[in-house]
Amino acid sequence: MKFLIELLSVMAALLWIAGCEEVVYAAEGTTVDLGTEGLQVNTGYWYWSRTTSRQDRLAWHNPLSDWMFTNDKRWTGRLSVSRDAFRITNVQQEDFGTFVLSKLVKISDVRPVKTFRLSKITASAHPPSSLVAGEPATLSCHVDSADNDNMADIYWLSPAGNRIRQREGKVQVYVTGQDNGIWSCVVTWEQKEARATVSITVLDLLPAPLHPHYVAEQSTPNIDCSFPSYLSWKQFKARDLQEVHWYFIPKPQSRLVTESQQKLFSISLVDKTLAWTFVQSRGFTPVLGLLKGNVSLNSKSVTAEDRGDYVCTFNFSSQLLLKRTVSVEVLQIVSSAGPALLHGQPVNLTCSLGHTLPSDISVKWFPPERSSMCSQLSAEHHPTRIVIPKVSREDNGIWKCDLRRGGTSLTSAEITLTITTKWSVWMLVTICGAAVTIFVLLLLICITWRHRQRNMIHRQHGFCRCKTPKPKRILQKITHPAEYPLSAH
Ligand SMILES: *[C@@H]1O[C@H](CO)[C@@H](O)[C@H](O)[C@H]1NC(C)=O
Ligand SMILES: *[C@@H]1O[C@H](CO)[C@@H](O)[C@H](O)[C@H]1NC(C)=O
Repeated sequence: MKFLIELLSVMAALLWIAGCEEVVYAAEGTTVDLGTEGLQVNTGYWYWSRTTSRQDRLAWHNPLSDWMFTNDKRWTGRLSVSRDAFRITNVQQEDFGTFVLSKLVKISDVRPVKTFRLSKITASAHPPSSLVAGEPATLSCHVDSADNDNMADIYWLSPAGNRIRQREGKVQVYVTGQDNGIWSCVVTWEQKEARATVSITVLDLLPAPLHPHYVAEQSTPNIDCSFPSYLSWKQFKARDLQEVHWYFIPKPQSRLVTESQQKLFSISLVDKTLAWTFVQSRGFTPVLGLLKGNVSLNSKSVTAEDRGDYVCTFNFSSQLLLKRTVSVEVLQIVSSAGPALLHGQPVNLTCSLGHTLPSDISVKWFPPERSSMCSQLSAEHHPTRIVIPKVSREDNGIWKCDLRRGGTSLTSAEITLTITTKWSVWMLVTICGAAVTIFVLLLLICITWRHRQRNMIHRQHGFCRCKTPKPKRILQKITHPAEYPLSAH
């Protein structure tokens, strides 16, 4: 009974398949599954072979043992059978062709149940060597098919995950750094999918920032230019890279020199050693890391003079050029009368990039806490210029200006105002005057007192002379002793 049911199911399958073969696509090196859903290949006698011949078998199954595989070295370790599929891993060129699943229906009656045609997908890129960004690459994806069956649908997936439909067997792409990596040709048919891949190397620089570099005066920003770490100078040299340069193009507003473009640094790839040549450094220095492809610049502390575009170029012999531009915007607070002010003086403070601000960028002022400007500035909109008709002592201190896009601060600049009062100057003069007067008075008093003192001493001296006998006379008396007894008498 069981045998009969089995026989009937096989017969049904045979009728259903009726000699048609199932096409399966795969690329070399990939894994492919030949589906056996619903055939219960793990019960009964089954054979997998390249032809309908039983001798040429790759794998077989009987009710007493599990699946067994051919000893042929070509297949060793690459075949396996699950409930629903016969799996071939690491598909080789010789594998493409027919695979037949047969069943032993009764003794010496082996019938093919299912036939598969394994068809090859070939993906290729032209040129096969590395490309410089901007060059075109042609990607071709080809599927082998006997009868030009248009059942398969083909598209390409870029490394970034973009889908590009293939027309007339190929696609053309003008590559950028984002296209570096593995491209997949995806072949889909009857809800199945297979892929073939090809790798592309694109020589490009890392993307420049989308927005300008907003920095405050006196800050030391890095000006970045480098190629990705997966590339090397060797690959650039192989495509005949000749020179690397840094240029500075000042913003029109701060252009003091007639030339519009200044060369700052250069590297010649023709030289044996890779090293920077300083042309006109403007105080900038290349960062360490040249060998790793980091050609960024370190800046000194920047001023309004450094506003402009910094351009890094990689020049190839074939007119090809890779270029990155970093715009540097220096924020500065300018006081119309300098930082040292007198009380009552008019002053304008301007927070500026040297040109009108882009519409999406605004400023926010932070005057010293006690400044009257705190209350005058509205909460929402601050002007780039603050007009102070008369500065007062409360305006003394640090004024900060924040440059903002949306709610986020891009950078901020500061200025310290020192306000001295005119009154205090007059006070100083008065105090000095008073001090001088007091000094003169004291001097006079002193002189007068000294004078009087001297007069008194004079007078006392004269009186003494009269009263006290001169020692000379006493001596005279002693030297004449004869006189002495006489006078004593
Ligand atoms: C290049 O060097 C600078 C300074 O050391 C560093 O800030 C920057 O991140 C480096 N760039 C890359 C891509 O490594
Ligand atoms: C300040 O700006 C106003 C107009 O914005 C101008 O009239 C005035 O002369 C300026 N004052 C100073 C001290 O620069």
